Amino acid sequence: MNIVATIYEMETAHHTMLCMARPAGGAFSVRPSATLSLRGTAFAGFEAEAAELMHNTTMWNERFSEPGYAYGTTANDFLTSVADQVPPGRVLSLAEGEGRNAVFLASLGFDVTAVDTSSVGLEKARALADEHGVSISTVEANLTNFDIRPGYWQGIVSVFCHLPPPVRKELHRRCVVGLSPGGALVLEGFHGRQLEYGTGGPKDPQRLFSLDELRGELDGLDFVIAHELDRKISEGRFHKGTVAVVQILGRKA
Ligand SMILES: C[S@@+](CC[C@H](N)C(=O)[O-])C[C@H]1O[C@@H](n2cnc3c(N)ncnc32)[C@H](O)[C@@H]1O
Repeated sequence: MNIVATIYEMETAHHTMLCMARPAGGAFSVRPSATLSLRGTAFAGFEAEAAELMHNTTMWNERFSEPGYAYGTTANDFLTSVADQVPPGRVLSLAEGEGRNAVFLASLGFDVTAVDTSSVGLEKARALADEHGVSISTVEANLTNFDIRPGYWQGIVSVFCHLPPPVRKELHRRCVVGLSPGGALVLEGFHGRQLEYGTGGPKDPQRLFSLDELRGELDGLDFVIAHELDRKISEGRFHKGTVAVVQILGRKA
């Protein structure tokens, strides 16, 4: 097989997921034990990216396989405080995990689509929605190449979504394009100083950010709220105590 560019679709023992860019010549699958194939010459040049993605997804699936909800079932409180500023309609929730934010938004009447790379997380999100008597759509996909339809979304939500900087920057550009006029982006994530607290979040400083970085990446939005702050949180087992975060409510003109 002649592999043209990057991996498009990867099938693991558990599920199929989208990853990286579609190769010029179309899609292909890696099956079944992608880790073995990754060491083969067919993946020369892409081993690091593919292995990191596999590792990352496996890690989230393992975390979400544990009993209970890793970040609780109550929505993020920055999101709850600004949800009334999102115009009615369609909301895209990025890196939704186990569904606490999507279910909250659906209960307010939004038409919610939750995207995540973790099949286990999304299964729990659907179960949580059922439990609350609301309906959400789920999409298992890698945000690296997730297609965001231009001008389509009244709201885009990103809560503790920590990606490598090139992926994050490109995703944020697509978010700005994806919002409809008047649409709102709600974002909360860990600031670089979070490493000093050790109360949750990635250990890789590259995946943390500052307000200045995000302002640049979200060029095209008017910032209604944009600040860095230290605050206390209590979200399940993994976000507990004082944290350093960036919060943004941005509106597209
Ligand atoms: C800290 S959890 C946050 C979950 C949820 N936003 C919340 O606040 O409860 C991070 C989430 O990012 C997802 N994630 C990480 N990398 C991703 C990627 N490349 N594409 C899609 N989702 C990703 C993980 O599967 C996980 O659900």
